Amino acid sequence: MSKQTVVILDFGGQYSQLIARRVREQSVYCELLPRTASKDRVMSLSPRAIILTGGPSSVNAADAPKLPDWLLSAGVPVLGICYGAQALAHALGGEVERAPAGEYGKRDISYGQSALFEGVSKRSVCWMSHADSVKRLPDGFKVTAATMSCPFAAFENVQKNIYGVQFHPEVAHTRQGGLILRNFLYNVCGCTGDWTMKSFVQEMQRSLGEKLSGKKVLCALSGGVDSAVAASMLHSVCGDNLVCIFVDHGLLRKDEAAEVMRVFKDERGMNLTKVDARARFLGRLKGVTEPEQKRKIIGEEFIRVFEEQARAIGAVDYLVQGTIYPDVIESGTGDSAVIKSHHNVGGLPSVVDFKEIIEPLRDLFKDEVRKAGFELGLPASIVMRQPFPGPGLAIRIVGEVTGEKIAILQEADHIFREEIALNGLDEEIWQYFAVLTGARSVGVMGDRRTYDYTLALRAVTSVDGMTADWARIPYPVLEKISGRIVNEAGHINRIVYDITAKPPATIEWE
Ligand code: XMP
Repeated sequence: MSKQTVVILDFGGQYSQLIARRVREQSVYCELLPRTASKDRVMSLSPRAIILTGGPSSVNAADAPKLPDWLLSAGVPVLGICYGAQALAHALGGEVERAPAGEYGKRDISYGQSALFEGVSKRSVCWMSHADSVKRLPDGFKVTAATMSCPFAAFENVQKNIYGVQFHPEVAHTRQGGLILRNFLYNVCGCTGDWTMKSFVQEMQRSLGEKLSGKKVLCALSGGVDSAVAASMLHSVCGDNLVCIFVDHGLLRKDEAAEVMRVFKDERGMNLTKVDARARFLGRLKGVTEPEQKRKIIGEEFIRVFEEQARAIGAVDYLVQGTIYPDVIESGTGDSAVIKSHHNVGGLPSVVDFKEIIEPLRDLFKDEVRKAGFELGLPASIVMRQPFPGPGLAIRIVGEVTGEKIAILQEADHIFREEIALNGLDEEIWQYFAVLTGARSVGVMGDRRTYDYTLALRAVTSVDGMTADWARIPYPVLEKISGRIVNEAGHINRIVYDITAKPPATIEWE
């Protein structure tokens, strides 16, 4: 099935991925490519439209990223956002200059006549984030929106099919921003919204069915959302020819291993083997306190266990990986420092004898993976799961990991999560969990002195985990959680709430 596709060229803006997600939300498939992507690469996708993102540069700087030289003659509608709009104006003969004062944050805006603003309130609020502004429009362009300090907040040339908006329709603070994007996609570019998770799942099942008939496929199932959806997709196609391995390293949340087995083996009848590797992992972690070392040991041991299992199964034709689109996107800008070595099952290919890797979710954003999971009939308890790191509770126990500490943390974490859900906060808080800190302190319980662990509660709001803020949990809820944990979990006599954002802290403690 060929789907209508929009290409987004990334000029390094902070909202580039968000634009892609907003386009997908309008049921239109899109790909985010670096601004340097070749004409052949872009045009091979037969794009219905090309969207240019924002970016940190000034078009007047000597090293400013330029529009691709083929862009304006490609015969494809173009929408420039922020820097993208300025780059269009500049390339077409308009003028861009540093404004006396930039505009940052919410601004009142007036919209005029334009296909982009059909059904949008004439006076509204938009999100601005720019230092430069368009001072003079290129010939043949008309202005279609303005704010107090930005007279050319939107402009267009309908004959040439070129549109520019200085504000950010993709940011939630722009009122009716979704409608503006939809108008561009549907009214200007003729998209019809053929990208739905139902059609995606059906098409993936059909194409995988053709490819995998009678073939043996191996999958490492962690119980996380991505591997669960990938495995379910493959199971719907391959049945018992899909062999799944679930490594229980003993660092999972309370009752998690049992739930994975119940949902995937008992309820869905999947060919799933649980490997009880708890003692092995604990043995290797004995005496280890350094976070990076913990991560490395767990990553290595995971591969070793998986390798042994795979050897017992023998050669397979395909290996499944739950790679998703944010892992695939080539970032247009710079190298970033390694803050933590993430453990996923990414190290597997070299140790298993197989012909090819299957990555059924590599085109999907996280919210789309979740929708696909529902299409495949997975329960909300799996599909709506919050992120859980590969090294599990080992990086939520500061210092040496022991069986006793795991048990205490599992209990405390369970109570915390239960109360958050009971108080209806589980949807607005992006991730929440308990951390057993290395600190012990003196307390008094029932007239007796105690010397026990300090537990930290961590709860953050975030969009993608790259940045985060600490969640403002109401005091009465915190009070209830504190009381329950101290009374029910055991060996905890002090509870603190982590009030640091990311940056400067990270979400996990190790
Ligand atoms: P940090 O602690 O880096 O975490 O702010 C950002 C997000 O990534 C998750 N995380 C991991 N996920 N393997 C994973 O699959 C890992 O090793 C890992 N370490 C952190 C973390 O839970 C948060 O959602």
